[in-house]
Amino acid sequence: MSADAPSNSAPATATGSGSGSGSAIDGSAEWSALVEHAATMGGTNLQTLFADDPARAARLTIEAAGFHVDFSKHRVTDQTIELLVALAEQAGLATRRDAMFAGDPINTSEGRAVLHTALRRARGDSLVVDGTEVVADVHRVLDQMATFASAVRRGDWTGATGKPIETVVNIGIGGSDLGPSMAQHALRPYARRDLAFHFVSNIDPVALHEALIGADPETTLFIIASKTFGTIETLTNARSARSWLADVLGSEAVPHHFVAVSTNAERVSDFGIDTNNMFGFWDWVGGRYSVGSAIGLSLMIAIGPNRFDDFLAGMREVDDHFRTAPLDRNLPVLMGLLGIWYTNFWGAQSHAVLPYADHLARFPAYLQQLDMESNGKGVDGEGRWVGHATGPIVWGEPGTNGQHAFYQLLHQGTHLVPADFIGFTEPLTTAADGGAADQGDGASELSSAAAHHDQLMANFFAQTEALAFGRSHDDPQRAFSGNRPTTTILGERLDPAMLGRLIALYEHKVFTMGAIWNINSFDQFGVELGKMLATAIEPELSTDDPLGHDSSTNALIEHYRASRRPTPS
Ligand code: F6P
Repeated sequence: MSADAPSNSAPATATGSGSGSGSAIDGSAEWSALVEHAATMGGTNLQTLFADDPARAARLTIEAAGFHVDFSKHRVTDQTIELLVALAEQAGLATRRDAMFAGDPINTSEGRAVLHTALRRARGDSLVVDGTEVVADVHRVLDQMATFASAVRRGDWTGATGKPIETVVNIGIGGSDLGPSMAQHALRPYARRDLAFHFVSNIDPVALHEALIGADPETTLFIIASKTFGTIETLTNARSARSWLADVLGSEAVPHHFVAVSTNAERVSDFGIDTNNMFGFWDWVGGRYSVGSAIGLSLMIAIGPNRFDDFLAGMREVDDHFRTAPLDRNLPVLMGLLGIWYTNFWGAQSHAVLPYADHLARFPAYLQQLDMESNGKGVDGEGRWVGHATGPIVWGEPGTNGQHAFYQLLHQGTHLVPADFIGFTEPLTTAADGGAADQGDGASELSSAAAHHDQLMANFFAQTEALAFGRSHDDPQRAFSGNRPTTTILGERLDPAMLGRLIALYEHKVFTMGAIWNINSFDQFGVELGKMLATAIEPELSTDDPLGHDSSTNALIEHYRASRRPTPS
């Protein structure tokens, strides 16, 4: 046994944070059974669970949808899984899932269907929602994107002066940025290296400024990506980009250098973008679920339409698995149920995602929006305070970098942080067939990449072993308590299909958790108040008018007023 006894080793005694009436699920017999079961699990640890059951790893490992996932290093027994699956059944998870795939308006607060899964349905499939054949619509836009992306890649789409495009700047924020920029980073080895890609999201003026350093207006294409085409940051950056271009080439050049991705044709046209160069999507695609829609246009330009198809096919593979696999062998369902287990029955407040792949550096940030904007809610679908904890704080960094930064806390800290370790059996350098990564000096580069990758993966395996089993030591400072839960997610290599699979895996994990908590994972009213107050404060910054906020906000604005530079006329 290890010497230290971390506070995170005990199960939650209550049903989590919060107060109020509580949702139906936490009043269910299935929930109570889990509370009792968690109490009996308090003294159990992973060392014992493994020692008592040599078949544990094999039994709790699932091969499906292109993944090899090991759930054995969790504080669970077969009974835990049975009880969690019973909870999912009580919550009507399968019915809710089927309603999403069928296009029912499960986003009840906004009266919308939730159909990001339709974005990856195969050509020729049929799904009719409100009298519209949505799969046909999806493929019409995919074809339009493919025609455009291929023309840019061939150099046939030219700027106003007839020069081919060399720089693509995606201007968008939230779901109109995080998905495409994460995917661009992840799939860099598959992308055209002779095209430069920049992602401008922040309204901080340096973001656009940095992206345009060295860019030539004659060869720059702007993709203005905004579902609503009303997001202040995106429109402000888009206007500044338009001035940058028009100052050199004249405003008649704008249609040659600006395209839009949006659901709002009227606003796109008002901005001065030809709606023939607008790539549409639909209100049933949430921003954080939109990377497989036209929001992925920059990615399609980078990797080409065929690889974009592979990306969608990977998502589809996981959609099919989520729809058809039994709940107790269903990867996203199990990931979601384990999330519920630690959040509601062990009091965990955060969840780490640790990809052992440098190209997935932006994946945790992408998941932050996916998970926290979806499930960071305190009222259920009926508007009642849920009365128990909901979506965790999601965070992470690639390994091995994180090992030299925050893993100290994971190994010896007092917080319970369940973690996903994501790794690949093949290094990316030998996988991509079109990128410069292959174009090095042959065998020596590849063998060195293989050696690096072995080191990377040795760390990957070592970390979950250390977290689970710890190390006893007479000196408490040097002891590792172990019993720290992880999921190991292994894939063959990070390619477009694998990235698609990973995204869909987490989308459906988030769905599973939201469904069990009976919260609407598809609206985001929590982002509105801050935006509204910012709109009111902005004009106050450049006047001396009396302020009517609280004393703290008034004083801060006064301080800013005293030192701000006047806006140039
Ligand atoms: O403010 C949050 C949000 O609405 C996100 O949900 C969305 O992804 C982002 O803003 C950007 O919205 P849009 O694509 O409409 O510009």
